[in-house]
Amino acid sequence: MSMNTIKNKDDYQNFYKMSLDDKDGFWAEVAGNYTWKKPWTSVQTGNFKDLNVKWFDGATLNITENCLDRHLETRGDKTAIIFEPNDPNGEVINFTYKELHARVCQFSNVLKAQGVKKGDRVCFYMSMVPELLIGVLATARIGAIHSVVFGGFSANALAGRIQDCEASIVITNDAGFRGAKTIPLKEITDEALKTCPTIKSVLVSKRVGEEVNMIEGRDHWLTPLLDSASCDCPAEEMGAEDPLFILYTSGSTGKPKGLLHTTAGYMVWAGETYKNVFQVGEDDIFWCTADIGWITGHSYISYGPLLNGSTQVMFEGVPTYPDAGRFWEATEKHKVTHFYTAPTAIRALEAHGTDFVNKHDLSSLKVLGSVGEPINEEAWEWYNKNVGKEKCPIVDTWWQTETGGIMISPLPNVGDFIPSFAEAPLPGVDPIFVDADGKKVEGSPAEGNLCIRTPWPGMARTIWGDHERYKQTYFSTYPGLYFTGDGAKRDDQGRYRITGRVDDVINVSGHRMGTAEVEDALNQHEDIVESAVVGYPHDIKGQGIYAYVIWNPQSSKAQDHKAIHKELNEMVIKMIGPIAKPDKVQVVSGLPKTRSGKIMRRILRKVASGETSNLGDTSTLLNPEVVEEIKSGAL
Ligand code: PRX
Repeated sequence: MSMNTIKNKDDYQNFYKMSLDDKDGFWAEVAGNYTWKKPWTSVQTGNFKDLNVKWFDGATLNITENCLDRHLETRGDKTAIIFEPNDPNGEVINFTYKELHARVCQFSNVLKAQGVKKGDRVCFYMSMVPELLIGVLATARIGAIHSVVFGGFSANALAGRIQDCEASIVITNDAGFRGAKTIPLKEITDEALKTCPTIKSVLVSKRVGEEVNMIEGRDHWLTPLLDSASCDCPAEEMGAEDPLFILYTSGSTGKPKGLLHTTAGYMVWAGETYKNVFQVGEDDIFWCTADIGWITGHSYISYGPLLNGSTQVMFEGVPTYPDAGRFWEATEKHKVTHFYTAPTAIRALEAHGTDFVNKHDLSSLKVLGSVGEPINEEAWEWYNKNVGKEKCPIVDTWWQTETGGIMISPLPNVGDFIPSFAEAPLPGVDPIFVDADGKKVEGSPAEGNLCIRTPWPGMARTIWGDHERYKQTYFSTYPGLYFTGDGAKRDDQGRYRITGRVDDVINVSGHRMGTAEVEDALNQHEDIVESAVVGYPHDIKGQGIYAYVIWNPQSSKAQDHKAIHKELNEMVIKMIGPIAKPDKVQVVSGLPKTRSGKIMRRILRKVASGETSNLGDTSTLLNPEVVEEIKSGAL
């Protein structure tokens, strides 16, 4: 059987069956699509009990040879990247595979000259400019580990991530363009670095032309270093399980976790999922609108498209700048065939009406994608009708930072494309539902907590520096299974529908956030006695952030709830970033607690969702009287 693209239902069924029945045989054949320096001695070893999963052990390779070098002969002059700048009248910059290869080699040599070695951690805090993508690949080329921090995070959040992985170098911009705003990235970096003693050097890529403070000996402008570096840099020979990158994400408890992805398994997963889910042809143009600061940008900008030799658009800006037609204008301009975005963007654009879409010729589009949160039916229909003109399959791709790549999705030519259904597991993905008591739920229709039964190549291998936490977080709720944190349903034909998180993680505009993390930020305010944060349904963002706070009654602002909200926003912006600002802040005199002192979040969630009648049994609460107060003050 050819391991090329899944083209129809039969292919899908054969591939899927084989991937579970003869796992090693299946993946050995798939891995044959890639370039290795040394072959593997075993395809997969280890299990979820001992958490020692390895893929393609014994093999050596470099992922950038697979993204770049191997295309040089056949696709050297093909465009790899079309850079669409924030300003629609700004300069579009194209990079062929040859040019991208040369730039990556130069950047690799710059990193080496800064003393970066195999295994060192390289932090990126940048806007969506080509140097970010080039730098990420350069890091992988020399065997160092990249940790990209989204440019919207605060100095405090950046510092925490640098400290956790003990990065030795950070690469940033003077400032970044983001719609009508600029973000002072270097200034924020300087603030963060006050508490990051491991950082030896800072490379600054000029983008906005902002004046910045350069510290002698530590800070260097990137461009002159790149210009004088050689365009030749041999790729480091990496072990299959050598670390490739760390990416921080939020969970129900504690600080963000640095998930570690390793080289070979991640490569095969990013490459194969991209190939099968999007089915991008040789002359097609792919565009994923995510930021490289998130996993979607890692797998479907930095790696997946390049592994497959595609041409892709990389976009610096935001969907509503200069107006809500920006995505469609750029789609027309670059004749985009495959477009991958988040439901929150679709809902935001929907609110601006169809004129912005209809102005543009979108006839190049073939496949549309959705990622990051459940897509509601209305947004799905709008996307299908106005953007896809009812002729483009919509791949609603379910996956996570932890999974490395897409896990459940309809495939073009295979799926039924029912609004809000992710439909079917990809080859190699073995989902199982478990009920609240830990019992497996077989058959269809069914619903339960979504778990995965067996290792797949793209799974994160650990949490950086804390294997025990990795085990606790994902493998202890249901021993022997990977627990996703999501709830799901299967219809009578076995098609999957993801219903959302079942833990204390909320998804705000496709950004994953721990409620505990937001509470920690709120609690830093000196007048906060206690806080509880929950999600509630929000028309555009999917979920909004609702904070219940007990405010110091002695404080002068105690009656001024507007001022309290403003101060808390500032605190959250400082501790995390603007994406975590509470949408609503309700000042309360107490929080509903059980006799053992636990906050009853169920009640808070219901009130925040506007459901005040059916709150269930509140008689066991320590302080049932606060429930009335909370209900009557609901925002
Ligand atoms: O709740 C699920 C939701 O996003 C979570 C993963 O977030 P993150 O690690 O930031 O990765 C986002 C990009 C892959 C999941 O646990 N999620 C992601 N995609 C979907 C989704 N929920 C429903 N449908 C999806 N297609």
